[in-house]
Formats: sequence, C-alpha cells, structure tokens
Amino acid sequence: MSVSLHGRVLLLSLLLVGGVAFAADGSPKLAPTHPSLQLQQRPGHAAIASANYLATNAGLEVLARGGNAFDAAVAVASTLSVVEPESSGIGGGFMAVLHRAKDGHDVFIDARETAPAAVNSKDYLNPDGSPNRETALKGPLSAGIPGEPAGLVLLATRYGRLPLQQSLAPAIRLARDGFKPDARLRGTIADVQQDLQRWPASAAKYLPGGKPPAEGAIWRDPDQARTWELIAAHGNDGFYRGETAQKLVNAVRASGGNWTLADLDGYQAKERTPIVVNYRGYRIVTAPPPSSGGVAIAEILNILSGFDLSKMDQAHRVHTIVEAMRRAFRDHNDYLGDPDFVKMPLDMLLSPYYADGLRQGILPDQATPSSMLPRAEAAEPGMHTTHFSIIDADGNMASITSTVNYILGSTFVAEGTGVLLNDEMDDFALVPDKPNVYGLLGSSANAPQPGKRMLSSMSPSIVIGADRTAVIGSPGGSTIITQVLEGILHFIDGESALQIAAHKRFHHQYMPDEVMVEDGTFDPTTSDALTKMGYMLKQRESWGFMNVVTWDRKTNQLDAASDPRRPSGLGKVQ
Ligand code: GLY
Repeated sequence: MSVSLHGRVLLLSLLLVGGVAFAADGSPKLAPTHPSLQLQQRPGHAAIASANYLATNAGLEVLARGGNAFDAAVAVASTLSVVEPESSGIGGGFMAVLHRAKDGHDVFIDARETAPAAVNSKDYLNPDGSPNRETALKGPLSAGIPGEPAGLVLLATRYGRLPLQQSLAPAIRLARDGFKPDARLRGTIADVQQDLQRWPASAAKYLPGGKPPAEGAIWRDPDQARTWELIAAHGNDGFYRGETAQKLVNAVRASGGNWTLADLDGYQAKERTPIVVNYRGYRIVTAPPPSSGGVAIAEILNILSGFDLSKMDQAHRVHTIVEAMRRAFRDHNDYLGDPDFVKMPLDMLLSPYYADGLRQGILPDQATPSSMLPRAEAAEPGMHTTHFSIIDADGNMASITSTVNYILGSTFVAEGTGVLLNDEMDDFALVPDKPNVYGLLGSSANAPQPGKRMLSSMSPSIVIGADRTAVIGSPGGSTIITQVLEGILHFIDGESALQIAAHKRFHHQYMPDEVMVEDGTFDPTTSDALTKMGYMLKQRESWGFMNVVTWDRKTNQLDAASDPRRPSGLGKVQ
C-alpha cells in the first residue's frame, strides 16, 4: 500500500473487528497516531514459495526482469506445468486470490475447467448405476475444458506488467532444453505406467524408450514448448482457437471423448468477488464458489470465533475444530456448486447467526456422530494439485492453487500438443451422494451440466493482519480446506512460514465420520482423550504440500517456506 493510498484509506469508514481497525476495503486501517504508522507499506523485496525449485526460480527470474507478483505467478504456473505435471498444468485449471497493492484491490480468478457441451452423466455410470471410476478418472472423457491457459492470459494482461513472451519464457526454455525430473515425478510416472501405455502420445511423452525417465536423465517436452509459444504469441487464440484447438479436439474425439471446437472457443476465465471473513483481528481473503474451500473456511472460523481455543488443552481444541469442520463439510456436500448454475444460500452459510446456531450443537466433551446431523468415503491426498505463494517488492500478492486433479490427471496427452489433460470431471457429483475419489459427497447442486464448472476444494488464501500478512494454500483434495484452515490458525498464533508449512495436521470431512491424522500430530494423552470423546482416529500417510510466504510489517521481513514433506520445493526471499 503506497503512502498516497494510505491517505485515501483514512477517509474510508471503519469496521472494528477484534480490536483491530479495518478500512471499508478491508485493509487493516492505520490511524495517524497508531504506532503501526511506522510499519512498512511495501516489503522492498520479494518472496516465492512453490513445490519445485525450478518454478520458484522461474518466478524470481521474471521479477528480476521487472515483472510483478502476477507476472511471476504466470512464470511459476507455466513452469510447474513442465516440471511438476503430476500436479497441475496447461491441460488443467487453477484458482487464485490476488491482492493488488496500489489500490488494495482483492480479486478471485476462476480458471476452473468446464464440462463440455456434450457431457452425458451416463458416461460416468456403470450398468448398475454406481460411479464408473474409469471414465471419470482416465482418458479424454474424464477431462473438462482446460482453464489454465485462459487464467494465465487474464493474469498477465489485466494484472501483470510484462508481455506473455517474457513471463512464459522460463517454461518454454525448460520444456525445449529439458531438465532432470525429480524422484517424485519419476515415481509418479512409474505408478501410472500402465495407464500411460494406453495412449500413444502419453507413452511417447512420459515413457521415453518405453520406461519412466531415468534418474539424472534430461527430459524434454518440445510439443508443450510449442503450445506455450503459441499462447505467448497469440494469447487465448494460441490455445482455444486455431492449430492447438484443432489438435486437442482431434485427439480427444479419436479416443472416445466429446469435445468440440465450440467448447474451447467458448471457455472464459472469470474474475469473481472473493470471500472475506474476519477472525481474531485478521482479514482472511479466500476462494468463493465454484470452490467450496472459502465457504467452509469462513463457516469454520465463524464457529470457532465463539470459543477461546487458547484456553483449551489440545484434545478440547482439536474436538472444537473437528466439530466445526464436520458441520462445514456437511454444508459443502449439500449446497455448493457452480455459482453460474446454482443458487446457493451463501448469506446464510456465511452469517454469524448461522454459526451461532451450529456452535450451540457442539457438546463440550463429546463427538457428534455425523449421522446425527441432518444428512451425507476417501483416497490418499497429496500426489496431485499444487500451490504457490508470492509477495513482490511492492506488496502485490498472489495465492494460487492449480490442478490437473488426480495423479497425472487423465494420463491422456493430446497428440502433437504436449497437453496432458485433467480428470476434473470426477469433481462433479456424478451420482448424488456417492463419493468421488476424495470421498466427497455431493448433491444436484454439483451435478454435471454443459459448460458448468465442477466444485473444487482449492482454497488459495491471503491473511491480512494489522502488522503481519500471509499468503497461503495447499494441495490435498478434500483435505485442502482443513490444511489451509489449520495453516491460518497457526499463522494467527504467531508461527513462522516454515513452522506453518511443517506443522502436523488432521482432517474431518463429515463423512467418513473419522478424524484423519498425520503420524505425530497428537501425543498419546490427546489421542486417548479424543477416543474417549467418541472420535475414531485414522492415520493417513500423505499430507501437504503447503507453500507459505509471510510479511512482518513491523520488521519488514519476508519469509518463504515450502513444505518440508516435499524435498523439491523451494521458498526463497530475493
Ligand atoms: N481437483 C481437486 C479440487 O479441485 O478440489
């Protein structure tokens, strides 16, 4: 925030939240006599945390060339498409929360995939009416129309400073010249080798010489380099129209999919108003539908705001948080979908009165069985989806979660494009009240329809306090929401970026009615106490991978941390 904007902010009406003044635009309000006037208004340096050091370095390179956080975000996302394709990429989609420093503008960028016009629910059902995991998760029928390219074009053209040629240059260079895939990518390719062998272009790309890339071998993706070059030269026309669009449609249809040129031509990334919730003096800016994440995080924080967690022992603190999670996930299942298609009672879900009612039903020493709440099973999270966080020298912030859905998406590469397609159709409620791959249930609000966006758990968030700010997010399927929530709580408790990223985690999603726990989260006393309260604790292997940047405006120190659970990640201050 510049000094001149600060002057303008003084004129705005104030809202007192938890003793901290906020301007009408939600920025923490700095009164002229307030000691925080001495706080820094711009960091003067920048920080990026992402799941791969090549992507973090690509973003830092673009910042050094004069780009801002949003240009750096284009560089990080496009580079992740090349070096971490198991998690996100050009054939997937993303959700972003941006904060523009010069005017305090907060915005949500929805680059979520859409169902093609010819979507047919029956394609995803077995003859007995149960969900068909095969068509929902593998091959071209499982893929929604990608949003990633349009989202990055929007980011660059509306919020960036540099031409796409410059912000996409690192990704193009790495795809063309090659890089050494890390152990995780090589392992992931080996895990899905049989699926990749089914599609010639997938096998050609990921199984050079018929095998996953060897350790230390240089791996190139010239087709993807060319597709990014077309986007750099022509923007959306380089992907959604012309040569690339034709190749995508030809490849999808030749292998049993139903995309048309009109589906691609009609795709639009959208700007939406983010969800804002105030909690313990912090302003949390997070993802609205078609993500369920922000609504759930807001609902949970509203419930928790009636408790003093700091006065509780660990078992009661966890009990209270889990009961709030349980109630928010019940509502997630019942109400949420694409806002362009369904009417959702957001005013009710986000209201403090609604949270008051839910809070009354939480017993002090006893778990509420989910089956006793009016109404609504799970895969290991963590091998898919990615999150990165950026703050630049001016205080612009980008919190971006990007995905191809499950491990290496649909495993289908469209011949001649280098585009690995997502398998996001599984995020629709293909059969009401039957779990998707993350065990999430859904209602007709999230049923597939032509052009509709499938509900997401992606929860990119920015937490703004009077003197400390965090840009935060995580992959993890349905556990994204609770991991980000716990990260927000740890930040507000004063933890550093690394402490937040490394913190042990737990999760509850209404159904299955169990608390999923990372090894070492609870000491034996807490585990025993929770079991006595009626909780079923279930250990889960795969968590993370959170990438966090924090800014302490008293000391003007930036801090960046990549989840230590993933050795290829890098958080770096420049
Ligand atoms: N595909 C995972 C999500 O969007 O939640």
